[in-house]
Amino acid sequence: MSESENFILPANSTLNQTYGQKNQRPSINIIHKSEIMKTLLSMVDRVAQSSANILVLGESGTGKELIAKSLHEKSNRKFKPFVAINCGALRESLLESELFGHEKGSFTGAYARKIGLAEVANGGTLFLDEIGELTPGIQAKLLRFIQEGEIYRVGGKDAIKVDIRLVSATNRDLEQDVLKGNFREDLFYRINTITTQVPSLRRRKEDIPLLVNFFLSSGVHRHLNRGHQMSDEAMAIMMKYDWPGNIRELQNICERMQILAEGHMIMPGDLPESVRNPDQKVVMNDYDPNLTIHELEKRYILKALNHFEGNKTRAAHALGITIKTLYNKLHEYGEFEKFAIHSKIPGQ
Ligand SMILES: Nc1ncnc2c1ncn2[C@@H]1O[C@H](COP(=O)(O)OP(=O)(O)OP(=O)(O)O)[C@@H](O)[C@H]1O
Ligand SMILES: [Mg+2]
Repeated sequence: MSESENFILPANSTLNQTYGQKNQRPSINIIHKSEIMKTLLSMVDRVAQSSANILVLGESGTGKELIAKSLHEKSNRKFKPFVAINCGALRESLLESELFGHEKGSFTGAYARKIGLAEVANGGTLFLDEIGELTPGIQAKLLRFIQEGEIYRVGGKDAIKVDIRLVSATNRDLEQDVLKGNFREDLFYRINTITTQVPSLRRRKEDIPLLVNFFLSSGVHRHLNRGHQMSDEAMAIMMKYDWPGNIRELQNICERMQILAEGHMIMPGDLPESVRNPDQKVVMNDYDPNLTIHELEKRYILKALNHFEGNKTRAAHALGITIKTLYNKLHEYGEFEKFAIHSKIPGQ
């Protein structure tokens, strides 16, 4: 993501992303073919032009931020900044100065005036990710900002007019949070003039082959010249899996396979064990003060080898380490000889 040259990004810029210059905007490619996504995207088209505040709901990794960017791109604010901030990543006082800015000397460490993200986003879109994490104090200030269209920098006396379109996202059940008294009802109604729900990947499995091809052809590791394509057998396994981490999980796995696959074609054996055998859950015991990380790792690696009947290539793939690392570990544990035979001999 590029950063605009129009303004200086506030500190902690890793927590937020800003772009606003005409030629710097990344193009937004929402890969899909399912009806449910077509419906969602036509809704995005319709509401983008309005100035309505939009709440994007959906499980983690479903593409909420991508939808938010698309709303911005399709709006008449598209040549103005899109500014994203993760509300769950900062404690209250920092978040307030990040959002609304502060005046010089307003608190210890405020050596200079800082422009807040709401001001940076003026004319454009402010994306509040994980809005369900806002503390009551910030909720009240955000509500005032939405109602009045003006902000006060921390320590500042003057109201500053700011025109933004607000897009918020959460993977929480915000209505439930309202009922429990954790989220202000008046703010809830202000942020969701329109609500959109991004469906989980398991509800649109027909999108999986397209997404896999997209990630394999555009992934950061494509130059490694491995894992260009997925075999039908491997794709069938990908289609069966439930994808609890949604598209982000699919993307991570595609990137991993481009590093680990043996050849151009991704075979079932190249897929992580968690995808091939999703029911085989690792049982984590409670913390054991006598168990070191080293010992835990050793036990886990030996368990993986037993699971794959001594097949070191498959065990290394499933563990997400190279075969060379696995050999080194076995030498280190003094277990190398035991696993020198490739596979367990039947009957032994
Ligand atoms: N339809 C899609 N086509 C292409 N890439 C997608 C699609 N949906 C999501 N992605 C990619 O998947 C990743 C996760 O998407 P995004 O960050 O928008 O999800 P999110 O719902 O905001 O996740 P989280 O709840 O974890 O913040 C991103 O790298 C995004 O570019
Ligand atoms: Mg997100």
